[in-house]
Amino acid sequence: MYFPGLEGVVVKETKICHIDLENSKIYYRGYDLEELAERSTFEETAYLLWHGNLPRRSELEEFRRSLAQHRIPPSHVKDLLLRAPRAAEPIDVLRTAVSAMAFGEDLRDKSPQVELARGLKITGAMPYIVAAFDRSRRGLGPAEPAEAGSHAEFFLWALRGERPSPREARALDVMLIIYAEHSMNNSAFTAVTVASTLADMYAAVTAAIASLKGPLHGGANVDASLMLEEVGDAKNVERWVEEQLAKGRRIPGFGHRLYKRGPDPRLRVLRRLARDLAAERGDYRWVELAERLEEYVTAKLSQKGIYPNTDLYAAVIFRYLGLPVDVNLPVFAMSRVAGWVAHVVEYRQANRLIRPTERYTGPVGLRYVPVEERG
Ligand code: ACO
Repeated sequence: MYFPGLEGVVVKETKICHIDLENSKIYYRGYDLEELAERSTFEETAYLLWHGNLPRRSELEEFRRSLAQHRIPPSHVKDLLLRAPRAAEPIDVLRTAVSAMAFGEDLRDKSPQVELARGLKITGAMPYIVAAFDRSRRGLGPAEPAEAGSHAEFFLWALRGERPSPREARALDVMLIIYAEHSMNNSAFTAVTVASTLADMYAAVTAAIASLKGPLHGGANVDASLMLEEVGDAKNVERWVEEQLAKGRRIPGFGHRLYKRGPDPRLRVLRRLARDLAAERGDYRWVELAERLEEYVTAKLSQKGIYPNTDLYAAVIFRYLGLPVDVNLPVFAMSRVAGWVAHVVEYRQANRLIRPTERYTGPVGLRYVPVEERG
């Protein structure tokens, strides 16, 4: 049997995420993602994904406290990211910093509790890593806001050096919830593949970040943002899209391996969020541009099963939050780490080394010719 791209291949049983394509719903541990986006927080959602149940108040407080305790990474990681060349891509700095978090730790224990504790450390430190590198390349020292409340607020504050508005912090919080998990996507599969060898959580998350970087996966949110800039205005959409398609290019923020019969359910939340932020700013340019792109490309390509994906509106939201374009991608990683950690721990409960096979289509029996005789 040969399944290019492993499409349709079931690699594990899961209780983490269910995507109900028929009814356009996503569930994290049985809870409707739209309700979580409305009523939960990233911290609570991460707890839910990792432990399988919503935390009691005291458990949530403890979880928040522990996450916050790990906000400032170990000094060797800080040094590394502050010394990274300014031209480095933030996603590469994040990947390398997460990898370096393993240095010096005794990594032999792979029990779920210990791996979850590593997941907590990584998740806790990611916002600082992303923010401090961005500041460093702008010639600014790190900001370490001790008063910041939520994970999302801490990140925006550490990035800007000033407190974000509650609405901005909440908008980012919702983004972190929405992006936290999405079944066996490429990066989750990568994390699980690495974890199946019994390598540690740092190794699995580092590999997952590498996977996320690609433009067919998370990297599309950077491309989608650049597209918004290039198109510039809703009135240019038709011409721009036609030009791209004539050149045989794909439109970033459209198409998805799973959503071929209708748009991604997360779009409902993101579109609303984008509109709210636009209203707060009194600037509808980006959201109207995305809506026009959605309308035009859907009319043009839906017969091929192409609909907008989350990256289209995520790019709009990140623009309204004032994130540098290349920081969109590490923010995606800051969220999706919750799903990666959950999958690693779940897979290990019935671990089996992932080792697929391939069909050989090359020659056999070729005669070796010494290099001097090869002409
Ligand atoms: N724009 C224009 N045409 C597209 C697009 C697009 N964004 N995506 C797919 N198509 C076309 C393909 O060219 C192909 O056309 P053809 O049949 O005439 O050759 C057809 O739709 C089917 O495409 P596949 O490559 O088979 O679709 P697949 O399921 O493998 O790809 C993917 C999904 C990789 C996401 C693709 O749609 C894509 O490249 N999108 C742009 C990048 C993007 O937004 N990625 C983010 C994904 S979501 C995430 O990771 C958060």
